[in-house]
Amino acid sequence: MEFSIKNGNPEKQRNACVIVGVFESRKLSSAATAIDRASDGYLSSILRRGDMEGKAGTTLLLHNVPGTLCDRVLLVGLGKEREFREREYRQAVQASIKALDGRGAGDVASFLAELPVKKRDLAWRIEQMVELTMASIYRFSHPNCKKTDERRGVSKLVINVPQRNELKLGDAALKRGLAIAKGVRLARDLGNLPGNICTPTYLAEQAQGLAKEYGLKVEVLERSEMEKLGMGSLLSVSRGSRQPPKFIVLQYLRGKAAQKPLVLIGKGITFDAGGISLKPAAEMDEMKYDMCGAASVLGTLKAAAEMDLALNLVVIIPTCENLPDGDANKPGDIVTSMSGQTIEVLNTDAEGRLILCDAMTYAERFEPEAVVDVATLTGACVIALGHHASGLFGNDDGLVKELANAGDEAFDRAWPMPLWDDYQEQLKSNFADIANIGGRAAGSVTAACFLSRFAKKYDWAHLDIAGTAWVSGKEKGATGRPVPLLSHFLLQRGKK
Ligand code: BES
Ligand code: MN
Ligand code: ZN
Repeated sequence: MEFSIKNGNPEKQRNACVIVGVFESRKLSSAATAIDRASDGYLSSILRRGDMEGKAGTTLLLHNVPGTLCDRVLLVGLGKEREFREREYRQAVQASIKALDGRGAGDVASFLAELPVKKRDLAWRIEQMVELTMASIYRFSHPNCKKTDERRGVSKLVINVPQRNELKLGDAALKRGLAIAKGVRLARDLGNLPGNICTPTYLAEQAQGLAKEYGLKVEVLERSEMEKLGMGSLLSVSRGSRQPPKFIVLQYLRGKAAQKPLVLIGKGITFDAGGISLKPAAEMDEMKYDMCGAASVLGTLKAAAEMDLALNLVVIIPTCENLPDGDANKPGDIVTSMSGQTIEVLNTDAEGRLILCDAMTYAERFEPEAVVDVATLTGACVIALGHHASGLFGNDDGLVKELANAGDEAFDRAWPMPLWDDYQEQLKSNFADIANIGGRAAGSVTAACFLSRFAKKYDWAHLDIAGTAWVSGKEKGATGRPVPLLSHFLLQRGKK
């Protein structure tokens, strides 16, 4: 896929297709009006015949429109002009790419970025267009499937800006969108890989590959080193698996030497069967996605490196499998975390927090500016927020606000949840410092409360992406979220 930014008249473009918008009812956008004029009212006459109303999500492909130099004109319905917001803009962009899927129009010029969207500037509209286009042409390919996917569809997208003096701004937005889209693609690819390929060892190899590609510092700790560090909690989860656990540490150091690093921690359970507290069989395959936190922090690192952000960033990935076995964690087992706190494992399926807590203690050695962990942590978060927002928790209001704003800016949203001490009571154990579950009530909050016990030494936030990291059903697949949110967070921090 190739992108470029251009300024020109829609009727003068020589592309295979020019994309313009039409509002409901039959109100032409300014690019559509230009084509209508050049074609002596050809578009309005077609609309008058009733072939297109301009309803959101609809499209109409026209060939050989008089007065134009392109092969086709794609009209995209935008819905009512007064109701045209972010969601509608995104829908229109997606519909425009989908409508050309499987067709001969490879090289297209889109005029949709000219459309005003409340509170969003041209840079936002361009960045979104790039990310949405990359996302909609995404196809997962299994490494062993040699099937060459000769898809026809958009392969070159020229994004038109309304004014000549907006070309530079447009180029910057395009670069940003592309970097983020590449990070998203990496996160989706890793997430979609099955558990028999994407093992902890595979993730470690991917991290080493990234390190080589971008000149990063990388370390992969093996079981024996984790033992020496006292990561008893993490290692207890890994006991039931024949795949060796890995502890991945990547360092991207492009900030000032004195600048404390940001630390991103990603949950890397490459398959979560629940352990002895075995999960039900239905949809268990989706627990291959339990490493999407890890995938997203790697994706974010890639985006940051692609954008060449001037900051110091450490990415930590504790990774293992959670399987039942004769040697696996058992309900009631007590394990000692690297922090020294003892944990009563009342449910072996609450394993994410058990691996994250040791990573959080390990993070202290970097004296971080802030730590953000990302995890497909609780089914309860899906019940609370559904599939639209990630759950957002933290021990510092400023950091939480920053992340919420970054999510809003990226349209990859997260919603703040309470982390009050009142909830901590639910984690009381008669036999250890803390229990690993807090009962059915507020499951995503008590999970975050558990993590907060290991975040005493720094500003910390937690993103529960159980509802947002992948979609189920016919369109099953990883989303790459929250790479856009985290990328924008880093972009903002990079400016400081
Ligand atoms: N990986 C799961 C969380 C999950 C479940 C994400 C379903 C997305 C969809 C996590 O390890 C888990 O099993 N959590 C338990 C916690 C419970 C035992 C306290 C859960 O949510 O049921
Ligand atoms: Mn689990
Ligand atoms: Zn899990």
